[in-house]
Amino acid sequence: MSSDEGVSPTRPTHFIGQRDDVIRADRVVTSVNGRDVLVLHHQGALHALDARCYHAGGPLQNGDIEEIAGRVCIVCPWHKYKISLCDGEGVYQAVDPSVKPLKPRWCSKGVKQRVHKVTEVRGRVYITLNTSPEHLESDQYQTPKYRDTLHKN
Ligand code: FES
Repeated sequence: MSSDEGVSPTRPTHFIGQRDDVIRADRVVTSVNGRDVLVLHHQGALHALDARCYHAGGPLQNGDIEEIAGRVCIVCPWHKYKISLCDGEGVYQAVDPSVKPLKPRWCSKGVKQRVHKVTEVRGRVYITLNTSPEHLESDQYQTPKYRDTLHKN
């Protein structure tokens, strides 16, 4: 993929494909500047995030989508961790044993998965990598070792 003109004057933006083709594919794993990114379509919206799960590198392209407490999440196929598609938060269910009757509630672990910006211009889909400097747990699976594993799955 190469940078493309006219979408963002300040940050490199990468062409993924024509919107109709991306929607038809439903899920696309692509390499952008040495980073494996999953672009997926869900109910009319396109999302982009690191392709490997922050927990242990599971292939998110094989995960189910669920709505959890108002968040659209992808469920990792390996250990069922739930990740919000809009911001990469890890979402989990907890019970406070001191509160009876026991009632599970959804909680956030904070942002664990790097999500990237999707832009559509005249039917073309682009992503802009999230290059924020803080370390996110999904970053560790963007090394050459894990990227090679991803392409074999
Ligand atoms: Fe994704 Fe464990 S690798 S939940």
